[in-house]
Amino acid sequence: MTHSAGILGVGAYVPETVCTNQDIVNRGVNTSHDWIVERTGIHARRLASEHETTTYMSEQAARKALASAGLNPQDLDMIVVATTTPDYRGFPSVATQVQVALGAGSCPAWDLSAACSGFVYGLDVVTRLIESGGYQRVLLIAADRLSHRVDWSDRSTCILFGDGAGAVVLGRVDTGGVVATALHADGSHGSILSLPNDPPYIDMDGQSVFKVAVNCVVPSVLEALELAGLTVSDVDWFIPHQANQRIMDHAIKKLGLPADRMVCHIDRYGNTSAASIPIGLAEASAQFKSGDVVVVIGFGAGFTWGTGVILWQ
Ligand code: ACO
Repeated sequence: MTHSAGILGVGAYVPETVCTNQDIVNRGVNTSHDWIVERTGIHARRLASEHETTTYMSEQAARKALASAGLNPQDLDMIVVATTTPDYRGFPSVATQVQVALGAGSCPAWDLSAACSGFVYGLDVVTRLIESGGYQRVLLIAADRLSHRVDWSDRSTCILFGDGAGAVVLGRVDTGGVVATALHADGSHGSILSLPNDPPYIDMDGQSVFKVAVNCVVPSVLEALELAGLTVSDVDWFIPHQANQRIMDHAIKKLGLPADRMVCHIDRYGNTSAASIPIGLAEASAQFKSGDVVVVIGFGAGFTWGTGVILWQ
């Protein structure tokens, strides 16, 4: 017997420290507020302090998601954390540390690495695990702390990233839920966006990333909608990965979606990598009505990308 998987609760956490574009200029970076806004749409981002580790931010987001689902940590039978900025270089995983912090018993816990696509990759895998009947209530967190992995003298990358975490509890639902997912990767684009060991900072060919991202978003959305038996005109809410306002604007224009259907927070938080989609879900979900079609699209280093279509309950 197959089951349907849906989102039972959502939550998000962003660090307290606000870093405006002017703050970056004040750090001595040769840039300006106007340049950053015009090229990216970013006005500010949040920067994690020492105590706001990936595990800490994940735990905070998870507690809110559990509260909104009306569940306790002990109700979970799996924890998955999508991150490329774990607190330990190798192990233990963030997910196991979140499990301890939450007091979630001994359920399986593991990390997933798909860069900015991590949330959508997790959504696909966890949905299939729940559909199989093997798991019933899974905590999926996406968290990144990339401000600690940028060279603050590199003006082409340090302006882009912010820190944060978002979480959802996925569980069995009778109707609706996650009705389609479609994932892809093309490792031949690996070199255009990387986080090497040495130097341990993001290395990005911004223009190439921009082109690859623009070219994958619309086909990915159309593929997932077709799998769901839906069309663009059915979409109520569109939550793209928040990498650059121009990439997002290009996508809705090509899709023919009204601008007010798109959830945006890049102006306030910058690019929060894997966390950007669940932060968007957490902030916008109060406006969602039962039956609304919510489309989430992630894309990022690898190159990886994927779309999820959710019938909101
Ligand atoms: N302030 C002022 N000038 C800058 C800055 C800055 N922060 N950064 C670069 N410039 C300069 C460059 O040096 C260059 O100067 P030059 O003409 O004298 O050589 C000029 O601006 C143009 O540089 P480009 O790289 O061509 O600028 P572009 O318009 O492409 O914007 C940007 C750069 C914003 C990085 C853009 O390429 C982009 O957003 N690409 C997508 C990358 C992305 O989304 N990355 C996020 C991570 S990936 C992910 O999440 C999937």
